[in-house]
Amino acid sequence: MILLDGKKISEEIKNEIKFSVEKLIVNRQRPPHLAAILVGEDGASLTYIGSKIRSCDQVGFKSSLFRYSSDISEIDLIKKINDLNLDSEIDGFIVQLPLPSHIDEHRVLLSINPKKDVDGFHPTNFGKMALGLKSFVPATPYGIMKLIEKYDIQTEGKSCLVVGRSNIVGRPISILMSLRGKYANSTVTIAHSKSKNLLELTSKADIVIMALGIPEFLKSDMIQKGSTVIDVGITRVEDKSKKNGYTIKGDVDFKSVSKKAKYLTPVPGGVGPMTIAMLLQNTLDARLLNSS
Ligand code: GUN
Repeated sequence: MILLDGKKISEEIKNEIKFSVEKLIVNRQRPPHLAAILVGEDGASLTYIGSKIRSCDQVGFKSSLFRYSSDISEIDLIKKINDLNLDSEIDGFIVQLPLPSHIDEHRVLLSINPKKDVDGFHPTNFGKMALGLKSFVPATPYGIMKLIEKYDIQTEGKSCLVVGRSNIVGRPISILMSLRGKYANSTVTIAHSKSKNLLELTSKADIVIMALGIPEFLKSDMIQKGSTVIDVGITRVEDKSKKNGYTIKGDVDFKSVSKKAKYLTPVPGGVGPMTIAMLLQNTLDARLLNSS
């Protein structure tokens, strides 16, 4: 089995980004600036935002975090987004999801200037991505596509099963894998909570992308020998032996699947670090677009 080492590849990508930032500085230009909006106190969201901000420091980006309590109104949140849309010092920004239930996520994402939408969640970017046009691609699917490319995994004409249909991962990765391109051109199936024949689907797939959110769901007897398995799951599972009281589990039973798959992403150290690297890449691209 070949481990798809997202930690290593993401470090390589971050080093390239850092080099581009150094070039900007040498030319007396300002570094990229990423802003993040975080609403509420969700533990997982706090962790993700913390990693994103730390990674900005690592590559020499400027970053700003705007935190609001979970009772902020939708109008006030959109006002803040409008400020960031107009702020010429900020190249890109993200609104960390999920948002509290009284806020309409679609209205919020629609209010982001697509040129600063480094998450690629605005319908303009999502639509361009679906048409195979240049756009900001959501960071997690972008990271998966990069891993596939870096490890030269053959995807053309292969059957690819995506388990999960979220707007952040499942749906966009299913589109990307079906587009024209050397590391795409797959025959894609999307399975979700209403799918009835999951075992039949997983056992026939050459590539399985798990974005379900159920810890260790995919076992070795559910897959084909020699398949590629990408694990997007990151569920916190109670673990009293850990200082923070939890451990992170993927959607794949790593121990058994690693004996049967040809390529497999670990959790942690697989898709997670790639997501952050690609968010930084999108922010660098936004910065370079702004200056031209
Ligand atoms: N919540 C979970 N993943 C993401 C992500 O990639 N971007 C944002 N904004 N929120 C998320």
